[in-house]
Amino acid sequence: MPTSVKFLGHASFQIRTRRHQVLIDPFLTGNPSACTTADEIEAEFILVTHGHEDHVADVESIARRTGALIIANYEIVAWFQSRGIENTHAMHIGGQHSFDFGTVKLTIAHHGSILPDGSNGGNPVGIIVKTDEGNIYHAGDTGLFSDMQLIGDEGIRVAILPIGDNFTMGPDDSIRAIQYLNPDMVIPAHYNTWPLIEQDTSAWKKQVESATSAQPVVLAPGDVYTLESV
Ligand code: NI
Ligand code: MN
Repeated sequence: MPTSVKFLGHASFQIRTRRHQVLIDPFLTGNPSACTTADEIEAEFILVTHGHEDHVADVESIARRTGALIIANYEIVAWFQSRGIENTHAMHIGGQHSFDFGTVKLTIAHHGSILPDGSNGGNPVGIIVKTDEGNIYHAGDTGLFSDMQLIGDEGIRVAILPIGDNFTMGPDDSIRAIQYLNPDMVIPAHYNTWPLIEQDTSAWKKQVESATSAQPVVLAPGDVYTLESV
């Protein structure tokens, strides 16, 4: 089975590689756009970009039920350990490590990362997941930054970018981000969950098509995008 990317709603994604299931930022409980529940989702690995509630909401319950390995920055991992979760792997910005499903590299992101109880969640990150079908970059929550060119130098097959505006970059800055990253495909995230971050994805899609060489892939919650073998 080739690698696939499933949109779960908001910034939550499930990546399936040949043999493994990887969750990024599971936020299903309290997410009006969620396509599944924290009780049902399968995971062996959970990647976390930053400490905000709309990214960590279900990490603990899914980790407890499934035994999935939590991979995050040092501060977020320490927080989960203080809550009694042992199966964790701490990394930090610029670091790369190989796991059974692929290689993970953490990148910078410009945002906050305070945890739900007010604890310091360190610096927010973006995540590159390197699979047999190419590199998948989940930007996390971030504004535009020109060092996205350096991330693009890694060779990005799929970029997952926030477009909701207000808390993260909006549609216009996402176009500049795509120009820096030069991915084959781009999937929008972090929009339409609430009225404050509502966006017109058909207008965004047209902008991507006219101003970049990337293919826009707009997923409804529950949709799966399969990466053909290269
Ligand atoms: Ni956030
Ligand atoms: Mn967020």
